[in-house]
Amino acid sequence: MNEAEQRTSSPTRIAVLGLGNMGAALARAFIARGHDVTVWNRNAERSRSFAGSCGVAADAAEACRGAEMVVACLANYRATREALDIPAVREALAGRTLVQLSTGLPAEAQQLGDWAATLGAGYLDGKIAVTPGRIGEDLTVIFYAGPKVLFEARRPALLSLGGRPTHVGEELGRASIADFAFLSFYFAGILGILYGAAFCQAAEMDLDQFFAAMPSFTAEMVERVPSFRDMISRRDYAQAQSTLKVDLAGARLLAQVAGQAGLAPRFPAFLVEMFEGPVGGGLGEADTAALTEVFLKAKARPPSQ
Ligand SMILES: NC(=O)c1ccc[n+]([C@@H]2O[C@H](COP(=O)([O-])OP(=O)(O)OC[C@H]3O[C@@H](n4cnc5c(N)ncnc54)[C@H](OP(=O)(O)O)[C@@H]3O)[C@@H](O)[C@H]2O)c1
Repeated sequence: MNEAEQRTSSPTRIAVLGLGNMGAALARAFIARGHDVTVWNRNAERSRSFAGSCGVAADAAEACRGAEMVVACLANYRATREALDIPAVREALAGRTLVQLSTGLPAEAQQLGDWAATLGAGYLDGKIAVTPGRIGEDLTVIFYAGPKVLFEARRPALLSLGGRPTHVGEELGRASIADFAFLSFYFAGILGILYGAAFCQAAEMDLDQFFAAMPSFTAEMVERVPSFRDMISRRDYAQAQSTLKVDLAGARLLAQVAGQAGLAPRFPAFLVEMFEGPVGGGLGEADTAALTEVFLKAKARPPSQ
């Protein structure tokens, strides 16, 4: 059975708790793939638009009772615990799989998993590495931690949420760590895009041209990924595509022009600072990938050039 077939087969009885921006997208994706869905939201107003397309429960316990898999996507772990840690829900969760998809810390994942175990519920901790508009797409990655056998059992249904459900380990905190690795990339990338847009606006450049060039800009980063992976895993940065010395010169010019354009200076100043450290430390001829050694500073062995 290929992935596409799996995504439409084996209807599963699923409860979706929380219909905020993300929870509503998850519920719609399960419904679209033909699963038997019941939704619940604390504020009933948000459930109303689901009436007619799936079951709408009056409370969380009612939603859980009929489900094989309970997917919770509330604001955070505290909200999840507030919604679930009441007698009727605790009873209803016994024997079911709880999949918790809120953002949070590794320790919170472990605590919720320990709590679920006391109820006799299976637990997967998931972290969503996309915004709601990309739920259900083939490229969409969601990280899961927890028992591999449970992940494999639930995988066909979880494929409804995105084509790349990724099991990152049995230790429950690992999905959170994978999520923060993603968020490092996401926040830095978003910052770069928005600073670039501000640059265009400050200089009265054509914003449409800037955004139209974005696929080329992002391809530039993606193209470098295989060489980054190779150099970082070997901790050898000698085969440079672009050296830190060249990056530093570019960042200094960027800071200068940003200053002339009257833009907030902290972002380019941070870039200059990032590149200055390793260049001053003798890594000027190393590839940009050698920056990971700076980030790993506490653990770093001297890299080869
Ligand atoms: N949006 C994204 O792009 C995105 C991406 C990745 C991960 N996430 C994660 O997904 C989670 C949900 O995000 P969201 O964007 O859907 O947030 P949101 O639109 O603000 O929705 C929050 C949801 O949590 C519920 N809630 C909050 N406190 C509660 C409580 N004490 N008891 C019961 N329900 C409670 C809200 O119910 P009410 O309607 O009753 O207030 C609502 O359903 C967050 O952990 C977020 O970090 C979001």
